[in-house]
Amino acid sequence: MEETILRTDNVVKRFRGLVAVNKVNLNVFKGEILGLVGPNGAGKTTLLNVINGIYKPEEGKVYFEDEDITGKKPEYICKKGVARTFQITRLFVNMTALENVMSGIMFGRKELSDFKEAKKSALETMQFVEFPVEKRDVVAGSLNVVEMKRIELARALLTDPSLILLDEPATGLTPSELPIMINLINKLHEKGVTTLVVDHNMRFIMNVAQRLVVLHYGEKIAEGTPKEIASNEAVIKAYLGKKYIF
Ligand SMILES: Nc1ncnc2c1ncn2[C@@H]1O[C@H](COP(=O)(O)OP(=O)(O)OP(=O)(O)O)[C@@H](O)[C@H]1O
Ligand SMILES: [Mg+2]
Repeated sequence: MEETILRTDNVVKRFRGLVAVNKVNLNVFKGEILGLVGPNGAGKTTLLNVINGIYKPEEGKVYFEDEDITGKKPEYICKKGVARTFQITRLFVNMTALENVMSGIMFGRKELSDFKEAKKSALETMQFVEFPVEKRDVVAGSLNVVEMKRIELARALLTDPSLILLDEPATGLTPSELPIMINLINKLHEKGVTTLVVDHNMRFIMNVAQRLVVLHYGEKIAEGTPKEIASNEAVIKAYLGKKYIF
């Protein structure tokens, strides 16, 4: 039996009349790379927002490592070991790359005694995400897309997560830049970090995820291996249009 790290139990999130997430049961297993896909507006980002405490669901429960974290504050959930990145990179644009990464220390699980130690840790993490270290003092607003994504990932990693939620890490990347992000996620996997990754890019998600969950109008319509999902009739109808060829 695989061990569950995160579980949502019949989660419902509504915005006025609109049901953005409808009775979703999600199981994320320890150590896996789980992909979450579906058309625009399917509820993917909303589900991540419920998991990390940005939204409180109207119904249902969220359990992280068997603790009921439903409706807890994002800071609390982050301290427990759940980090995330955003669909549109959210960096402090006037702060340097290094300062952005260091800001992660304030929200994380690590207890660091001083500034020097925090800086050392930040620089190591920047190295891990292969950020060009000579640019560490450049303001984040003037970095390119890949560099911004690396910095946002480094900041999330500095909180020392056991689960990381990545919302469209491949968006804005050129086809030649995709392998960079795939490689980074695989490196996280080797480190033992569990990953829940949302993305639209089929080439990316089919390559990086070990298992996929498909949302459509807020409901889970399928889950399985990338191979199973690629030829799933309901998924083809709702999302893929035709069978995905590897
Ligand atoms: N804060 C909000 N207020 C009102 N409606 C919202 C809000 N956030 C999301 N929605 C709506 O909820 C539905 C789900 O949106 P969500 O952003 O979760 O979709 P998504 O699957 O992430 O889509 P995309 O692939 O475009 O990022 C959409 O219909 C969206 O318009
Ligand atoms: Mg989204």
